[in-house]
Amino acid sequence: MPDISFLQIGTTTFSTTKEADDLGKKFEQLLGAQTRYLPARLAITRSLADSTTPPSIEGQELCKIIKGNQLFGGEPFAWVALIAQHRQAPFGQMKELQQSIGEHWHRGMKLLWSDWISLGEDFDAFLVFLATRAGVQEGAASRYSSTAAVSTENLRNGPIVVRIGDPGTDISTGKPVDWTCNAPGYSPHLALMGGTGSGKTHLGLNLLRQVKKQANCPIIFFDIAKGDIALKQELISPLGLEHIEVPRSPVPLNFLVSQSASVRDRNDLAVSFRDSFEKISRLGANQKDILRQAVTAALGEEGPTSFERIKEFVERECESRQEAGGTLLSVLNDLTAGHPLFVPQYNVQEFFSRSWLIDLHNCSDTNQKLVVFLILDAAKRYFMSLPDAPTDAEGNRSFRCIIAIDEARRVLGFKHPSLSNLIRLARSKGVGIWLMSQSPDDFDQEEDDFLQNIGIAIALHTNANKPRALRAILGGDANLPGLAAGEAITRIPPKQNYVRVKAWEPPKRAKV
Ligand SMILES: Nc1ncnc2c1ncn2[C@@H]1O[C@H](COP(=O)(O)OP(=O)(O)OP(=O)(O)O)[C@@H](O)[C@H]1O
Ligand SMILES: [Mg+2]
Repeated sequence: MPDISFLQIGTTTFSTTKEADDLGKKFEQLLGAQTRYLPARLAITRSLADSTTPPSIEGQELCKIIKGNQLFGGEPFAWVALIAQHRQAPFGQMKELQQSIGEHWHRGMKLLWSDWISLGEDFDAFLVFLATRAGVQEGAASRYSSTAAVSTENLRNGPIVVRIGDPGTDISTGKPVDWTCNAPGYSPHLALMGGTGSGKTHLGLNLLRQVKKQANCPIIFFDIAKGDIALKQELISPLGLEHIEVPRSPVPLNFLVSQSASVRDRNDLAVSFRDSFEKISRLGANQKDILRQAVTAALGEEGPTSFERIKEFVERECESRQEAGGTLLSVLNDLTAGHPLFVPQYNVQEFFSRSWLIDLHNCSDTNQKLVVFLILDAAKRYFMSLPDAPTDAEGNRSFRCIIAIDEARRVLGFKHPSLSNLIRLARSKGVGIWLMSQSPDDFDQEEDDFLQNIGIAIALHTNANKPRALRAILGGDANLPGLAAGEAITRIPPKQNYVRVKAWEPPKRAKV
């Protein structure tokens, strides 16, 4: 940087567009900042978190200037280095630096404003958002997905063997019953069923703890119906789950990210969003098309999109087609009226590298489904874009993640494309889908090959008397109503016959 010195930066003047500066003034008031440089600095860092080049601001009306020593305080070179690193080239001339700063300032301010809107203009949520996304790495804010950091994965290899409960012994022989969930040639997916109070949740958590200990992989656990998981601290603390109680806290995921800026990619993503959205609301052909078009347009904007922006584009689209918004707009109105369901804090890679307890028991039925479907969509897009998970010399595949859904009946039976795809294809990516639900029939309403792709079924006591699904996965007519508390039936592949297992020991009744 031969032409740029510390003193020069301090006395040089910088500016951005009037549009961005006006937004900056609003932030000044909102944040009680009383200085112009504070929102400006926030905006520049916000823009630096998007790895793409900011658009040119040439020809736009500019705002009044600010001196370098004010804008950057006492550390101008740190800022210059960050901006140079972002564009992957040093600055030769001061005017290049001025131009670059003006562009980042402009883009960042607009991004901050869209964050503010997508967080429902909630001041606390906005502050938490700013604090947690501090840093300038490629992050959730990117419009396009990036799987570049996959090489940092630290996957464990070797067989992952879980005992079917505690004691987990065969009732007729007393021998332990173990399932190698990442064995070559078999599916890592699990269906755990049983009537109310039969012990599904306890057994599911027991198996997850065993996997966590051996594979140390992230676990995404959906508590759809009861909200009881968070209360079982002693059972879940080994899983290291971060608890998100929606809608009080939104899911910190940038859930709608296109592969690239191309209209084709944006349209593909819009179709997948529309398909999930359609599962929660009956839309006519015109409304489906409006939604697809609106999402494609919203994805063309800078920064993460939100239900608010999608709604605005839907309104615009309805207006230009002179159509009423009908069900589509009323669902979007509901979605945008309350707390936001998502905030774009992490990108998919960051989100699926951590363990979450996504607690939906306080959400409406519609929102429960939408959150699960959109996260499964993001999971499908992300995991399918990765190379196959490595295997050890025996062919056991490393686990990247387990997605577990308790009370899964609420999302089963919808033939949700991403769930079917994950069940069919995610095994080679090292992703296990574990579903806990009451009746064997819950698992029997999906695509035809759904049950065939489940690796293991475990059934606890239930009164279901037409367990067609059980025959498909257990290979015989098991008497589930006849099971005592703590007893389970399972078939460990490749064995053909099922076994009765003591999955947990009910407390002995005191003799009278
Ligand atoms: N492994 C276990 N160890 C000790 N107690 C257990 C175990 N599994 C179940 N129980 C007992 O059974 C009760 C119900 O268990 P759990 O909540 O796991 O059942 P569930 O099938 O998930 O019920 P629901 O359908 O109501 O969600 C527990 O509160 C506990 O008393
Ligand atoms: Mg339960």
